[in-house]
Amino acid sequence: MQVILQGSSILTWLESSSAALFIRQSVWLYPIVEIVHITGFAVLVGAAVMFDVRLLGFSKKLPVNECVRYLAFWARLSFLAVLPSGFILFMVDATGMASNPAFQLKLVLIGAAILNAMIFHRFTLKSVYQWNVNQPAPAAAKMAGTISILLWLAVISCGRLIAYI
Ligand code: HEM
Repeated sequence: MQVILQGSSILTWLESSSAALFIRQSVWLYPIVEIVHITGFAVLVGAAVMFDVRLLGFSKKLPVNECVRYLAFWARLSFLAVLPSGFILFMVDATGMASNPAFQLKLVLIGAAILNAMIFHRFTLKSVYQWNVNQPAPAAAKMAGTISILLWLAVISCGRLIAYI
């Protein structure tokens, strides 16, 4: 009970902070932050899905290790835009967002997508030299690619549905 009270007081503190007030009173700041958020996740999800379709067998001539090095760089960099902008969008209406089921599910799905990527990088990618070019990827890699595409699609759907729930 104590934690919930502390949690909600932190949320109340966040949304009544001078920064949140300033953003709420500005006509342009919230849409600008949302544009940064959308641009950031377009790069993130774009990079992730481009790699996933390579795992599913498209463009087999493209070396997987080169793809992962190039696309993972952009995916990681995009977090520098997605996370701060997401937090700012959240803090403006922290209590409302925290109780929004679409937002809650979105955060869980983001966690699942990151976990899926970590397991792939930690285990499946170790054997990449056996299937780097012109070879079908192993089932575990194809599964990771399919799960990634479905999870990021679900994250985007939840993100869009936040405003409707
Ligand atoms: C990491 C991947 C993420 C993706 C792919 C993503 C995707 C989205 C999408 C598609 C929207 C709807 C945008 C619109 O229709 O205008 C959205 C809105 C939002 N996102 Fe994210 N997001 C991500 C991370 C985050 C994080 C980490 C947070 C918070 C800590 C966050 C907070 C929000 C909030 C509060 C909104 C609602 C904005 C509104 O409806 O006014 N997002 N996000």
